[in-house]
Amino acid sequence: MPDIMQEPLTVFTQLPPTKPRLKHIVETFEQKYGSKPAYIARAPGRIASRIALRFAGLAKVSIIGEHIDYAGLSVMPAAIDRDVIQACLASPSKDGKSRVHISNVNDKFKPEDFDFQPGKEGPVLDSKHHSWVNYFKAGMKGALGHMSPDDSKTAIELHILVDGNVPPGGGLSSSAAMVVSSAIATLKAFGAVESTTQGQLATIAIDSERLVGVNSGGMDQSASIFSREGALLNIGFVPKLVATLVPIPTTKPAITYVIASSLVTSEKQVTAKYNYNLRVVEMRVVARILCSYLKLNIPMELPTLKHVMDAYFSSSAMHTSSEFLIERKRRLKIMLDIVEDVFGDKKDGCTWDEVYERLGGMNKDSFKQAFHADFEIEAEKLQLYKRAKHAYSEAARVYQYRSLLEQAGDNDPDLALKLGHLMDESQESCRDLFNCSCPEIDEICTIARKSGSLGSRLSGAGWGGCTVHLVLEDRQDELIQALQSEYYAKHYPKLSGEELQEAIFATKPEEGACLYDLAS
Ligand code: GLA
Repeated sequence: MPDIMQEPLTVFTQLPPTKPRLKHIVETFEQKYGSKPAYIARAPGRIASRIALRFAGLAKVSIIGEHIDYAGLSVMPAAIDRDVIQACLASPSKDGKSRVHISNVNDKFKPEDFDFQPGKEGPVLDSKHHSWVNYFKAGMKGALGHMSPDDSKTAIELHILVDGNVPPGGGLSSSAAMVVSSAIATLKAFGAVESTTQGQLATIAIDSERLVGVNSGGMDQSASIFSREGALLNIGFVPKLVATLVPIPTTKPAITYVIASSLVTSEKQVTAKYNYNLRVVEMRVVARILCSYLKLNIPMELPTLKHVMDAYFSSSAMHTSSEFLIERKRRLKIMLDIVEDVFGDKKDGCTWDEVYERLGGMNKDSFKQAFHADFEIEAEKLQLYKRAKHAYSEAARVYQYRSLLEQAGDNDPDLALKLGHLMDESQESCRDLFNCSCPEIDEICTIARKSGSLGSRLSGAGWGGCTVHLVLEDRQDELIQALQSEYYAKHYPKLSGEELQEAIFATKPEEGACLYDLAS
């Protein structure tokens, strides 16, 4: 397998006839700006549809490894066949000012013109003012910051047309495709695409998205860039970003993933304080308490659970196995025992006073300063035991999933069953320990399991949004029909045929981001 981190972005010089949207964006660009675009930046992205706002996190599908990327633990997603494309033309500036003219094929997203400083400064970005163009500015800023100031000192005028659907101030993962494609568009404008590795592009995109005020874990941007047809990705974050392709073995019937949206929206902006961001804080607190219990000295303000695990094993003289996956699973099992020792007496959560005491005597203010200085959270108790159990056990499932895929030969009769079992266990853990499922997701999983699914779980942040199901190809239609009649017809009887097709569909891992260079 090639080292995808070190490879440059894939560049095509022709538009594939199978993707009519590419031809369409070229024509619309010409009508709008009077010349043809020089290139198109593409990143797998969110569904462009009328009901896009109801979908959560469909830039990629997360197969297993939920809510552990921000704990630094490795995850397993893949990109799907939905993308954001940006047709671009860069020309020398006529008045010496660097300027962007950006519009969207969807009129809902208003066009904008803005000047920007060449060099590291880049465009001015006000994350409090929600605009879809912020995601472009974030990707541009990241890309400019990565280039040497010499590369980006020439003033240019950039015309851009975007086709995709990124809701303003949208959910946590919806922006990844927009940020990734914007970074590619900027790198190409300054001739720096070829000299940037995919690993560097992922780091740019992850850092850029944080500029828009999102505490993102890094899974979405990595999936959008590194994905390849027919393979899942295993992405690690600590001590550094590493992406490994794990091909799905051939089986007869073939392993397929069906995605089904619950059509329940979790208003992430509103719920973050007691859902997503609260989980981020709980994981930070667990890591801090484990550090003191294990007497680790990690020179970082906010170490993750993965830092804790790595520091503990590098400091202990325990026997280690040279086999990477076996060693990882062994370490995670030991970490789970430690979690029992440290938090097992408080399985129903710790009150604030108990939390402050375990942190060696904090109070409300010092706690805020240490763990969530720039955002708010709301909770009666912190569920430290449950979150820690979920995180380390989910990480173990990710490694088991990867081992199963790597060790199975083609046509392994038990592979799908074993993978599905891990997905079911993951759902149970998300529901009972991480509390990020919801009744509709549970209902979908129950229907799916009795209609051909071998493993069913939520995918993405949860509390609504999407589910993913592992099914053998010969039972895929039965599964889709069962969900249509038993879930969608019951809860959403007015859905049109088109909406239904976008709510539930079979997918296979697709190619990640790329560039279509039309000028060469
Ligand atoms: C969102 C975030 C990801 C990840 C998932 C949960 O999609 O953007 O980084 O944390 O939630 O696994």
